[in-house]
Amino acid sequence: MIAPIVRDIAALRAQSEPWVRAGASIGVVPTMGALHDGHLSLVAAAKARCEHVIVTIFVNPKQFNTPEDLANYPRTEGEDARKLERFGVDAIYVPDGDVMYPEGFSTTVSVTGLTDVMDGIYRPGHFEGVATVVAKLFTQSRATDAFFGEKDFQQLQVVRRMACDLDIPITVHGCPTIREMDGLAMSSRNLLLSDRARIKAPILFEELEKIADGLAAGAPFADLHSSAIARLEKAGFTKTDYLELRANDDLALLEAPTRPARLFAASWLAGVRIIDNIAVES
Ligand code: PAF
Repeated sequence: MIAPIVRDIAALRAQSEPWVRAGASIGVVPTMGALHDGHLSLVAAAKARCEHVIVTIFVNPKQFNTPEDLANYPRTEGEDARKLERFGVDAIYVPDGDVMYPEGFSTTVSVTGLTDVMDGIYRPGHFEGVATVVAKLFTQSRATDAFFGEKDFQQLQVVRRMACDLDIPITVHGCPTIREMDGLAMSSRNLLLSDRARIKAPILFEELEKIADGLAAGAPFADLHSSAIARLEKAGFTKTDYLELRANDDLALLEAPTRPARLFAASWLAGVRIIDNIAVES
C-alpha cells in the first residue's frame, strides 16, 4: 500500500484528526531518510503496537555540525517511500525546511546533563538540534508512541528526558540495534564508507565485544580500553573520540558495570565517524 506523503502541518493534522478523536494509538518513527533495515525494524515495532503509524523523513539542518556533513547526508525519498510500501504505514511526513523552521523561528530545546558527555562534547549543538526537531515532530504528529533505535542510545535517553520534562504525553520506545551480517551497526552513514573502509568498519563492534567479554571475566576496564585503542589504530581507525563504559540511565562514567551499563564508542575510519554501543553484563 502506498502511504500518502504529506508535506505540511495542516495536511498532517487533517490525516491524524480522526485518529485523535477516536482515541486511537498513533506511532511515530522519526527518521532522516536513507532508510535501512534498522529504520524498518522501528516501523515494524510501531505497526505491531499502534493502530496508526506515521514515518517522518526530515534531514534536520539544526543537528549537523558542518555544512559538508549536511550536504553529504544521503537523500533517497523515492526509494524510502518504496521501502515503506510493504508495512502499510498511514502517512509519510516529509516537511520542507521552512515548514519546520519558518522565518522568525527562535526556540531551542536544550537538555542538560545527559548531553554533557560523548556526542554532546564532540558534536556541539547536535542534541539541541535533535531535541528541538523531535519535540516539534511529537507535537505536530500528536503521536501516543515514538520509536527510536538503541544504536543512538544517548539520543534515545535525551529524547526520553525531553518528552518527560516538557510533559509531552508520549511513550518513547527504545528498539534493539540492527546489524549487518558482519556485525556493523546499520546506519545511513555507512553509505559514505569506501569499499575498503566498509570491510574494516565492523572492527569497532568486535572491539566492544572483546571489552564486554573481558569485563565479564573480571578484567579492569582501563587495561581492556588501552588494548582496544591500540588494535583500532593498527586497523586504520585514525581517531577514537570516546570509548567508554557508562550507566544506562544517567550515562554516568563507570569503571566497572556495577549497575546496568553499556560500552559506547565513536571512532573515525577513512573520514567517516562510526558510532556504536552494546550492553554489558552487570
Ligand atoms: O536519529 C535520527 O535519524 C535523527 O536524529 C532524528 C531522531 C530523526 C531527529 O532528526
